[in-house]
Amino acid sequence: MKTALVLAGIAVANAYQWPSPLIDQVEGLLYEGRGEGDPNNSLIDFAGKLAQCQSGSLGESGAAEWIRFAYHDMATHNIEDGTGGLDNSLLLELDRAENVGVGMKHALADLSHFPNKYLSFSDVTAVGVAIASAQCQGPIVPIRAGRRDAIVAGPPGVPEPQQTLAEHTESFRLQGFTPEEMIALTACGHSVGGVRSNDFPAMVPPAPGTTADNFILFDTTTALDNTVVLQYLNSTTKNALVVDKNVTLISDFRIFNSDGNVTMNQLADPETFDQTCSRLFAQMINTVPAGVTLTDVIEPILTKVDGVQLSIGYDTLLLSASLRFLNSSDQRTVKILWNDKAGGCASGSCFNWSQNQRDVTTTLASRLGLSVNKYDFVAPINATTSISKFWFEINENDGSPVTVLDNEGSGYVITQDRVLYVPHSSTATSTVVAVRNDVAPSRVFMDVYTRGRSAIVNQTVDLAPSTDIESRVGYAFYSLTQSFTGVEFTFDLHSIVNGTTYTEDMRDTYFATNSPDF
Ligand code: HEM
Ligand SMILES: *[C@@H]1O[C@H](CO)[C@@H](O)[C@H](O)[C@H]1NC(C)=O
Ligand SMILES: *[C@@H]1O[C@H](CO)[C@@H](O)[C@H](O)[C@H]1NC(C)=O
Ligand SMILES: *[C@@H]1O[C@H](CO)[C@@H](O)[C@H](O)[C@H]1NC(C)=O
Ligand SMILES: *[C@@H]1O[C@H](CO)[C@@H](O)[C@H](O)[C@H]1NC(C)=O
Ligand SMILES: *[C@@H]1O[C@H](CO)[C@@H](O)[C@H](O)[C@H]1NC(C)=O
Ligand SMILES: *[C@@H]1O[C@H](CO)[C@@H](O)[C@H](O)[C@H]1NC(C)=O
Ligand SMILES: *[C@@H]1O[C@H](CO)[C@@H](O)[C@H](O)[C@H]1NC(C)=O
Ligand SMILES: *[C@@H]1O[C@H](CO)[C@@H](O)[C@H](O)[C@H]1NC(C)=O
Ligand SMILES: *[C@@H]1O[C@H](CO)[C@@H](O)[C@H](O)[C@H]1NC(C)=O
Repeated sequence: MKTALVLAGIAVANAYQWPSPLIDQVEGLLYEGRGEGDPNNSLIDFAGKLAQCQSGSLGESGAAEWIRFAYHDMATHNIEDGTGGLDNSLLLELDRAENVGVGMKHALADLSHFPNKYLSFSDVTAVGVAIASAQCQGPIVPIRAGRRDAIVAGPPGVPEPQQTLAEHTESFRLQGFTPEEMIALTACGHSVGGVRSNDFPAMVPPAPGTTADNFILFDTTTALDNTVVLQYLNSTTKNALVVDKNVTLISDFRIFNSDGNVTMNQLADPETFDQTCSRLFAQMINTVPAGVTLTDVIEPILTKVDGVQLSIGYDTLLLSASLRFLNSSDQRTVKILWNDKAGGCASGSCFNWSQNQRDVTTTLASRLGLSVNKYDFVAPINATTSISKFWFEINENDGSPVTVLDNEGSGYVITQDRVLYVPHSSTATSTVVAVRNDVAPSRVFMDVYTRGRSAIVNQTVDLAPSTDIESRVGYAFYSLTQSFTGVEFTFDLHSIVNGTTYTEDMRDTYFATNSPDF
């Protein structure tokens, strides 16, 4: 998929072509996040509000919960038979004592919004580690995609505090880590978050004078930095897994001390800590069952198209699309151009300008020096001549030549106009679809996808001719009133015409507006 080229010191994806559903999704979550369309903008704000470093009054951290969730999912990997790894089996193992904690339930609830038919839960968990680290000023964690979700639980084996050093060393060996890497990875993980009284009452007493949950942070900062190491080395640490009075439970002390503090002394250097945690977090999330092949590292894409929706306006078709840049500019102008179905421009006017520009950058993108921003288009298209593909012209208005963005030569292809989602007539409980009415389709239906207990499940439902939307611009309307609320629902639309099935791939009702934008 790529050879990296360097723009202002940043490796970016090269030779990328739209659409590449998996890459598009993972890259989007990393560098744009998701959730900007949500009125409350918190439940699904993947790269922002969800993974904050300090989100609770006791110092609890969504970011820490995501990192622990990823580790526990991976920790049952067995290098000898290739089973286990980051494969989402944790969802089927949360009732085990080794996976105790409300933090697990928080992480599960947070991450559950994002998997879909292209993006596995375990890929979301992996991306979550990179987001969590970036949000907490930790290292950049490179992300590969392509994990597959397990549909059955695996054997137990997540390390627990009361186990011996020998048991932990053997467990980490089976996970694929050396004794030194065991020390470092544990220090990296335990640089954020802490231990809860509800989960480990023997180690952490309830909040003073109450029975309420209490929380002891591993160190005095919420950042993913080496304070946990420094405070261990100078004996000021409050890490319960180092200082608990019951020496059976001080597994961090046994681990940190296991090579005579050599590794911990190395990690006292902040740069060594960052590089080591970046490498070991990457190894942790790239530990997958044998037979799973991951993509190359997903770099930021220089210019990226998304939100493409051909739909029906008042008396034309409407093409919505966004073009995203990794650099912002006040003077840039962006033009969209297209060909009609015949491959030319019979109407004489096949271009438009962007309607607005907006910033969509994430903490991770900012950390990489990127300022991610989007230009939105809503272009009227003659419904008779229609559209076959579109492309862009960029003018930086700085004396440099106008550049053409045409998806590496092929243009951005609109594969069909026979079945189209109509988001501005739809709501979360009513889906409206337009079909060309020159030939009546024999069937209009949708495959609806959502997350089941541990996998994406689908159902097929038929749409009926709409009783309240009149045909216009050569299209008849079909609708379905049924509640598919929630961001985790997506659907594919199909119409069958003359025995051929036409498809509009992966739409969602979540951002449907029911407000005409024409
Ligand atoms: C022998 C190895 C390990 C043991 C025995 C262990 C044990 C624990 C325990 C007892 C807690 C408190 C959980 C709670 O109160 O709910 C905890 C928290 C945590 N662990 Fe580990 N852990 C180990 C290794 C790791 C590793 C390798 C990572 C990740 C790289 C990690 C990441 C975390 C994180 C981020 C938290 C904080 C969670 C939160 O604040 O909600 N742990 N660990
Ligand atoms: C926004 O959040 C509040 C508080 O959680 C909730 O009561 C309200 O229904 C939410 N609004 C929407 C439009 O989701
Ligand atoms: C121990 O290390 C921490 C973190 O660097 C530092 O803030 C603290 O002042 C040190 N305490 C002593 C007693 O050296
Ligand atoms: C220390 O913890 C271990 C493991 O939970 C437990 O079996 C033992 O009874 C505890 N010892 C004391 C003195 O509380
Ligand atoms: C390692 O450092 C800790 C914390 O300072 C100390 O308690 C322990 O004795 C040291 N271990 C060795 C082998 O020096
Ligand atoms: C933004 O990046 C593009 C490369 O994608 C480059 O051609 C353009 O000159 C840059 N514009 C500014 C204003 O930096
Ligand atoms: C561009 O689109 C706007 C609506 O988004 C429309 O009013 C305008 O006529 C279009 N311009 C051209 C040149 O088609
Ligand atoms: C659309 O294109 C057709 C064929 O070129 C033309 O006859 C018609 O007038 C156009 N419609 C509009 C609204 O421009
Ligand atoms: C829908 O789910 C069934 C299993 O329940 C599966 O066989 C089928 O491939 C899925 N369909 C699609 C389009 O993913
Ligand atoms: C469907 O078949 C009819 C009759 O053969 C033909 O006129 C029409 O063009 C076909 N439509 C499509 C969309 O293939």
